[in-house]
Amino acid sequence: MNIIIVLDFGGQYAHLITRRIRDLGVYAEILPFNVNIENLRKVNPRAIILSGGPSSVYEDNSPKLKQEFFTFTLENKIPVLGICYGHHLIMYHQGGKIKSKETKEYGKAILKILDPNLLFDSLLREEVVWMSHGDQITELVEGFTIYAKTDTCPIAAFGNQEKFLYGVQFHPEVSNTPKGNRILENFIYKIAQCKKEWKLEGWIDDSIEKIKKYVGSRNKVILGLSGGVDSSVVAVLLQKAIGDRLHCIFVNNGVLRKNEESEVQETFKSKLKFKNFHYIDAEDLFLERLKDIEDPEEKRRIIGHTFIEVFENKTIKLEQANPDIKYLAQGTIYPDRVETSATSKASAKIKSHHNLTLPDDMMLEIIEPLKDLYKDEVRRIGVKLGVPKEIITRHPFPGPGLAVRIIGPINKDKLNILRDADEILIDEIKKAGIYENLWQAFCVFLPLKTVGIMGDFRTYEYICAIRVVESVDAMTANFSKLNWELLEKISTRIINEVKGINRVVYDISNKPPSTIEYE
Ligand code: XMP
Repeated sequence: MNIIIVLDFGGQYAHLITRRIRDLGVYAEILPFNVNIENLRKVNPRAIILSGGPSSVYEDNSPKLKQEFFTFTLENKIPVLGICYGHHLIMYHQGGKIKSKETKEYGKAILKILDPNLLFDSLLREEVVWMSHGDQITELVEGFTIYAKTDTCPIAAFGNQEKFLYGVQFHPEVSNTPKGNRILENFIYKIAQCKKEWKLEGWIDDSIEKIKKYVGSRNKVILGLSGGVDSSVVAVLLQKAIGDRLHCIFVNNGVLRKNEESEVQETFKSKLKFKNFHYIDAEDLFLERLKDIEDPEEKRRIIGHTFIEVFENKTIKLEQANPDIKYLAQGTIYPDRVETSATSKASAKIKSHHNLTLPDDMMLEIIEPLKDLYKDEVRRIGVKLGVPKEIITRHPFPGPGLAVRIIGPINKDKLNILRDADEILIDEIKKAGIYENLWQAFCVFLPLKTVGIMGDFRTYEYICAIRVVESVDAMTANFSKLNWELLEKISTRIINEVKGINRVVYDISNKPPSTIEYE
């Protein structure tokens, strides 16, 4: 199969480029910019894309390539496309000149195409592109041709067919470059001559075959199921491959949403006919350990450790009854595994408890069928596998659940208030037909009491904050500009129907600088 490698130079774009390439029909993976050439040779890429990045090529510690990289691509006739920082870097290593501009250029620009072949095949002479850069190339070296320019950027794209090197200053991978996909298509199909062969249809059959072979005809598999998209898709995929030899463990950690434990059981046991579905009600244990705990990280730690303990105990019991249990399946997906330089810092904290590493002495081999897929690919596979729509379209829900949506110590009363408010919010958002356009919508319990009035009585109750955000990958998010009537309806219902709340506020903060969750 053709593979395109995206070398990550630290921008926020490496995953986006990779997803675009896959959507266009060629399998793509990310590797760090300093990957060893021998490893690159083993992958045998059909083409390489150098991502953007926040650095400047003249900074001492900025990420660079080695000359052997260019020897390797030239000898093997591997086309290389540099984007933004990658574009500068190719020219830097070839001996061209790059300069820092005094002002950064950020936003839309009109690209004037000087060479309408290859990269810009079937585009107009002028196209809108998205720019985001401080440096730019001021001088090419011999053998390179300027393919396009803008009013402020004289070398906005270049190429050298003999050396298989191409560069673009702008970002073809973002939706603000309307013909970006066409440019990427020209690179992967016209220049790199890739075959269009990455299709999710084939993936399901291949994956089922692989799991069957790997697990064998008698062994059994354990899966920790949360009811979220990833673990649910793994569950259904494994059920198709090994049937009832799959044992799912679903733990009620006491911080789930309203009716979540019964809904997940209903879906898997009744609808999807999972025979070995083990529900563990550990609510009391979790809540006892979380009592009086204020610090958010401590809450996360307690929830993570208690989960491992409960899961491990159940696994030991299951193993005693089923000596053929040899594998542990996990819903790891590609971005969990491949942290780009841009995401690693921010998500290290999230992952530390989300993808819990179970102790080595469990002696189970790990199966991660979704480990090469992006979330939207997992969703599409889920649809094809018949995973119910309510699971596929579900908003992300953090592992530590409602515990990070109640500021300070949690208890059953606060949890129940929050559950009731949250149910109303989701109900109204769904009725308004906007649930699927939103990244997340949820309520937060603020342990502050304010004065209110109900009928003839003065009240003194808690505040509920509503957080509704739009995002593509949770790295950045904007609060949703919901309509006032909808917000009014939600607030009226929450105050009237939920005992314990007499004030509702709407969160109008974006990420960054705020985060999506409150703790
Ligand atoms: P923040 O709050 O960092 O959240 O903007 C980004 C995304 O990650 C989710 N999130 C978590 N998920 N465990 C998880 O499994 C966590 O501790 C955690 N904290 C945040 C959050 O819901 C959002 O989608």
